[in-house]
Amino acid sequence: MQTPTPSSIKKIPVGLLRPGMYVQDVNCSWMDHPFVTNHFLVKDEKRVMEIRALGVRELYIDTGKGLDAADATPQDEVRREIDASMARIASEAQVEPERVPLEREIDHARHLHGEASRVVQGMLRDIRLGRQIEMEQVEPLVEKMVDSIFRNQDALLPLLRLKNHDDYTFKHSVSVCALLVSFARGLGLERGIIKEVAIGGLLHDVGKAKVPDEILNKPAKLTEAEFAQMKNHVVQSILILQNTPGISRIALDVAGQHHERYDGTGYPNKLKGGEISLYGRMGAIVDVYDAITSNRVYHKGMAPTAALGRLMEWSKYHFDPELVRAYVKSIGIYPTGSLVRLVSGRLGVVKEQHADKMMQPRVLVMYHAEKRYYLPPEEIDLAWSGCQDRIAGHEDFDAWEIDPKRWVG
Ligand SMILES: [Fe+2]
Repeated sequence: MQTPTPSSIKKIPVGLLRPGMYVQDVNCSWMDHPFVTNHFLVKDEKRVMEIRALGVRELYIDTGKGLDAADATPQDEVRREIDASMARIASEAQVEPERVPLEREIDHARHLHGEASRVVQGMLRDIRLGRQIEMEQVEPLVEKMVDSIFRNQDALLPLLRLKNHDDYTFKHSVSVCALLVSFARGLGLERGIIKEVAIGGLLHDVGKAKVPDEILNKPAKLTEAEFAQMKNHVVQSILILQNTPGISRIALDVAGQHHERYDGTGYPNKLKGGEISLYGRMGAIVDVYDAITSNRVYHKGMAPTAALGRLMEWSKYHFDPELVRAYVKSIGIYPTGSLVRLVSGRLGVVKEQHADKMMQPRVLVMYHAEKRYYLPPEEIDLAWSGCQDRIAGHEDFDAWEIDPKRWVG
């Protein structure tokens, strides 16, 4: 499922980190640490302490570029374990929900995604000007998003992947909202609750309107004070939402707890396990998933399947493992809009899922990886009994210089 990596990359418990080691991956989402990049040489003890203080429990080092450690696990071994867990999830049959034909929902979803992005952008501008959030504007929008996802989630969900560097903050809120609807629906929550969870998702980061742009988009390591101010966006979200008439407890939980971590290393209240509400635990998973799959100026987004693998890995400490499994089931191992490689050597974009056959979605095939040229686009259903092809693994649009905007949505 993943490409092999050099065996010089190893995972170590943070207690073994020493100056002279080369960190390959801090092993937490970029929004949870103040560094510009994930890889750097650990120059002194101060940097070791700084990494420990982030709540990192394990991290990857490159033993080809720095010191080795005796008790280290090769990255390949970790990946094999994650692939096996993913395969187990895929083998658990699910019931396919009733839905309308994808083609009938696509235009509607496209309009809705545009509308939602504009509403959130306007809302953040209003908050900056000291105005209140108008629930009369938020509620009907969220209702429409819930309706669209209930009709056929494969229309709206892939559009969430299409972000530009400058529209991240508001499009991320739209994404978290929509992904939470799919997640909550997969968990079997009732419709009234799903709507409140979705409102929480749409508004979870409103506190960012109170964080200066220079900090939000700083292209260098954040100072301690700046990182504290960045983290303070959660407290600001809580304050804004507490002053919003009509906001529910559920929505407040999503917003106020989306940076709490299952092992108690999150913020603002260092809540642990069951102290974090179900909605806060869900919000944390979806928030990180969307963040790490999105391109930012200094962070390249991961392919969705790779991101789900990281969530599974991090669920050892940071997330509720059962909920991460449920999340993977709700959006699929190869989420709609992902680029996949088939065993025939062709590349294609996942167009529609089959909940009961997670490894065999409907795919729009359009490129030949070995011959390196575009093919006439052809839609194939891997679940069709006569289909000879199957998925070999996920791929990265950038690596093939394929523009996702042309093929997704
Ligand atoms: Fe946040």
